[in-house]
Amino acid sequence: MPLADMPTLLAAHRAVGAFNFITLEVAEAIVAGAEAAETGVILQLSQNAIAFHGGLAPAASAALRLAEGARVDVAVHLDHATDEPLVDEALAVGIRSVMFDAAHLTDAENLERTAAVATRVHAAGAWIEAELGEIGGKGAHAPGVRTDVAEAVHFVRETGVDALAVAVGSEHAMRERSARLDDRLIAELAAAVPVPLVLHGSSGVADAGIDGAVRAGMRKINIGTHLNTVLTTAVRTELDRDPDAIDPRRWLTPGRAAVADEVRRLLDVISGRSAA
Ligand code: G3H
Ligand code: ZN
Repeated sequence: MPLADMPTLLAAHRAVGAFNFITLEVAEAIVAGAEAAETGVILQLSQNAIAFHGGLAPAASAALRLAEGARVDVAVHLDHATDEPLVDEALAVGIRSVMFDAAHLTDAENLERTAAVATRVHAAGAWIEAELGEIGGKGAHAPGVRTDVAEAVHFVRETGVDALAVAVGSEHAMRERSARLDDRLIAELAAAVPVPLVLHGSSGVADAGIDGAVRAGMRKINIGTHLNTVLTTAVRTELDRDPDAIDPRRWLTPGRAAVADEVRRLLDVISGRSAA
């Protein structure tokens, strides 16, 4: 399939799963899981993952080629980019969807920089997601912090972004799926904010919470840490079972298969095809 664009993908699904990858095998597993679920998916590459690889192009190229070779719609997204030149580099290598994350700035600076980046991204014909900055003096996804509906509407109007990450009770990098989301706030935001809402830190949300958030109006569900847990657990199990294994394929094969199975299962939850 040709590389999917974000508006088409969002229009075709009640919500879209967006999975972070660090290694090639996880990117392959995300595509395989989406093919098994027969649904579209977003392959996300974060600025952190790019730093691990020492540059954007190799991992981005792999993701773009995987997307083009997939039997379902696959979009490739630059996630949590804080460096503006990295956004421009992503557009130059063919990525059509980016998240510019200026949450470390003041609200006023966040709005100003995000608006400037949005203009460049739109000039390139691409799609941009942003995140509201420090809310109540804390990170947007710190426990207890919530996005204000009026502030979200103002931010989207002034920046012109295409999607907005909002703080509704999730938190990044949770290992337990115990976050409690504010579905009422999600519904209020979805009714007032004229662009798709994005749930970050979805690893910490149980299946029922993800289903509830989607029913309330979340359109893009970001999952990263949970796939790391699934991969590493499977690899550890295999290495414990076969301590003499040397060829990485011996332990990457079950690791990749476990991630693909979990992506398929989660996409069924996100799409509403399985009861959570
Ligand atoms: O942007 C990526 C997501 O928010 C992933 O968060 O690793 O907590 O699932 P997570
Ligand atoms: Zn995130």
